[in-house]
Amino acid sequence: MRGTIQQLTEAFGPSGYEDEITHLIKAIAKDYADEIAVDTLGNLIVTKKGREQGKRIMFAAHMDEIGIIVTHINKEGFLRFAGVGGIGIATLVGNRVRFQNGTLGVIYREKGEWKDLTLDKLYIDIGAENKEEAETKVQLGDFAVFQREFADLGNRLIAKSMDDRVGCAVLLEVLKRSKNPLNTLYFVFTTQEEVGLRGARTAAYGLDPDLGIALDVTLTGDMPEAQRMDVSLGKGAAIKVRDSSLIAHPKVKELLVDLAEANKIPYQLEVLERGGTDAGAIHLTREGIPAGAISIPTRYVHSPSEMIDLRDAEACVDLVFALTERELGGIF
Ligand code: CO
Ligand code: ZN
Repeated sequence: MRGTIQQLTEAFGPSGYEDEITHLIKAIAKDYADEIAVDTLGNLIVTKKGREQGKRIMFAAHMDEIGIIVTHINKEGFLRFAGVGGIGIATLVGNRVRFQNGTLGVIYREKGEWKDLTLDKLYIDIGAENKEEAETKVQLGDFAVFQREFADLGNRLIAKSMDDRVGCAVLLEVLKRSKNPLNTLYFVFTTQEEVGLRGARTAAYGLDPDLGIALDVTLTGDMPEAQRMDVSLGKGAAIKVRDSSLIAHPKVKELLVDLAEANKIPYQLEVLERGGTDAGAIHLTREGIPAGAISIPTRYVHSPSEMIDLRDAEACVDLVFALTERELGGIF
């Protein structure tokens, strides 16, 4: 899984431009899947057929990452930009971005007090001497993502876009492990989560599953003077109770806790005060779909250096796998 996480996090995939990620995931999934399809909004749907008495479970992990979009190119060749998804100003100054064609740029700021810093006081320098030269590399409306290589610290890994490539890697591991699952599994690698859970919404409508589970990152509270949050790196899979987009269906939460207990999988409960996942869109689809989420604890979410503990990701694989084999008749 380490290698898959590296491969997926180093690729380019801001919201709406997930193609590179789609290709990478397809290449891995094709040897294990019964069916692979891409829907209108670009969601990659990998199906593994279950047995007669099984139910239909949709697992969602989003392929897109946060980034920026070019809003203006001035005559000196500097770019102005807006955020794609929730980008934090404090994480931007001095960092590099990369466009799909490989063009690199550094983000910097105008003069002024740090406390007054807003996005419109930042610019991107791609090394162009004027607008004409800049436009040979970058156009208005082009998207870019953080440029940051993957780092392997042992149990802990750092990369840009762990949110949510680590969730994608978890689902790929489960797919590889699922030979003849009880339940029919739809591994949905969704698009445009960071701009409002958009891909998951149409995918869930199309699939109409009996149960929906999002795999995504969540915040931790285990850093110095951190915001209070009872999730820590290295303490296992986080079973979501609520976030801003979803109150996990109580039966889904209970089922996941029972599965973790029964299989001795390390887990922690997650109460996220702000933020959401694809499960938020899934549970409001059609007449409602029972939904929950399994989260990978992550430090520094939405920065260029998101940190996970590989053992947590492995616990998530074990928990998802246990669910794929769980008899759900009578529950959902
Ligand atoms: Co995110
Ligand atoms: Zn995410």
